[in-house]
Amino acid sequence: MSPLKLSINIDHVATLRNARGGTHPDPLAAAQAVLEAGADGITVHLREDRRHIRDHDVERLRAAIAAPLNLEMAATEEMVAIAERLKPADCCIVPEKRAELTTEGGLDLLRAGPFLASAIKRLNAAGIRSSIFVEADKAQIEAAAALGAHAIELHTGAYADAAPEDRPALLARLAEGARIAAASGLACHAGHGLSFETIGGIARIPEVSEVSIGHFLVGQAVFTGLPEAVRRMKGLIAEARAG
Ligand code: PXP
Repeated sequence: MSPLKLSINIDHVATLRNARGGTHPDPLAAAQAVLEAGADGITVHLREDRRHIRDHDVERLRAAIAAPLNLEMAATEEMVAIAERLKPADCCIVPEKRAELTTEGGLDLLRAGPFLASAIKRLNAAGIRSSIFVEADKAQIEAAAALGAHAIELHTGAYADAAPEDRPALLARLAEGARIAAASGLACHAGHGLSFETIGGIARIPEVSEVSIGHFLVGQAVFTGLPEAVRRMKGLIAEARAG
């Protein structure tokens, strides 16, 4: 199986910093620490309300890190213009609701307005690999391919949050989604809610080429430090991938 890349979402390092309004802990320092520990890339979600990551963070990350930066964002004029200016390696379009605690589900491409198509075109034209966060649903995945996206990111939240006995059925659905993505010519990423307990199932899906993991690892860092948490996650991924 090809290697599975691990992109670390550092949003909640910024959540902790913002709790006191200062500069510590610095998301850029966290990005450097996780890359040194073996992460393959960095993900940040620049939300409309800037509740965690702020514009300045994205600018500093873009300037200081060589590893691929994946910018998660809503499909809005403001965000597409920021992406065009900063040119991260990847952009993942996500649905965004002001009152939600975190992204609650995949984007509904069957109901998306015309702006989404132009957003994907503009990202592609800027040399950014465009991705869309979707549920493991055939119609949604095929719609992402029709829009010209480079990749989809499968929403793993329901699988990750499910009771262990309910996970196999949800995992089978994600694996089928990954097969449909590959057959549609899309790269397949996955993420949301993944932990040491739930990464193995996802890492065993051969079509999944990248996972994005944040909240669990930043929480785990309280007990073991971020580098150790990342090394353990990388180890579990390698084990699962080796079969
Ligand atoms: N992928 C997407 C599209 C997300 O919105 C998030 C949360 O920001 C993640 C992955 C990472 O989820 P978690 O922080 O639960 O690992």
